Amino acid sequence: MNSYWSEYWQQGHVNSFADSTSRNYEGELAEQWLAFFNETNVQGGKVVDLATGNGALIDLAVNVGNFCEPEYIGVDYATLKIGDSLKQPKINFLQEQNIESLPFKDNEVTAVVSQFGIEYSNLDLTLSEVSRILRPGGKLRVVVHRKESAIVAPNFQILKVIRALQEEKSPLDALKRLVSALSNAKKTAQDRESIRLELNEKVGNLVSEYQQALYDTNFPKLLKTVMKPNVSFERKKAIFEEYDKELESHGVRLSDLTNAARDASEVTLLKSKLVCNDFVDITLSDVTDKRGLIGTIIQAEKKK
Ligand SMILES: C[S@@+](CC[C@H](N)C(=O)[O-])C[C@H]1O[C@@H](n2cnc3c(N)ncnc32)[C@H](O)[C@@H]1O
Repeated sequence: MNSYWSEYWQQGHVNSFADSTSRNYEGELAEQWLAFFNETNVQGGKVVDLATGNGALIDLAVNVGNFCEPEYIGVDYATLKIGDSLKQPKINFLQEQNIESLPFKDNEVTAVVSQFGIEYSNLDLTLSEVSRILRPGGKLRVVVHRKESAIVAPNFQILKVIRALQEEKSPLDALKRLVSALSNAKKTAQDRESIRLELNEKVGNLVSEYQQALYDTNFPKLLKTVMKPNVSFERKKAIFEEYDKELESHGVRLSDLTNAARDASEVTLLKSKLVCNDFVDITLSDVTDKRGLIGTIIQAEKKK
């Protein structure tokens, strides 16, 4: 398990769009969820949100939609930081719990939901568990990441820049050598100039190929900071160490995301996995917003 999700949720984010200014999912995505929660709003019902994070979907159902009849249980393998608005008697969270093996009895659950969640897990294991815990006629509704979506596609570019910065003789390596040469009295002006030229050329190549993605790695910001003459060499070394760590965890996060996301044919394959797990009435539909494709909604019912 990667600890970055625990670190992320401990910062108190409500959903997985860290740069979002809104509190929860909005627009088409939220509207369609609310319509679904309206259907599952039955007394005695049990709705399980898989890979729940800090409970964005449950928050949408209860605090936006006011669908308070069922019991809601959010499951996630991260350590969460649940907001006060979700501390209610009929809402529970099972933290540090892998969704590939679920602590519910057979046929116990009315509906299983997940938003940008189950695709991170081993779907053969998770879907078999979902089928086991759902009662006959129980509903499954998930939104999965798509490789071509406005959320995921830019991250392939960022990942390429991260890998390029982590290579030997990368622009990052040239920058470290330049900073070190500038503080080393034994280095001549010519030594420094040749590293500077190498750095300019390497950064130029990255900018021309991946301009926005390069900004998203914060490399330009790092460059500006470590080239400041009034920052000590010791401090610059510490800044490089921090940046290396950030780059590493950013790379892990993005490779998890790009691996979890499905392309069009992989989404179709999911349909056959559902059939194998006793699901019927399976529908797939793409969800879009002003940015373009956001993900695919998969809805199904467990055979009665
Ligand atoms: C993109 S976040 C989505 C969170 C939430 N559904 C939302 O929309 O805000 C993905 C979540 O999946 C969780 N996750 C990934 N693999 C998991 C697994 N095998 N078991 C449980 N949780 C998992 C992560 O910890 C993370 O919280």
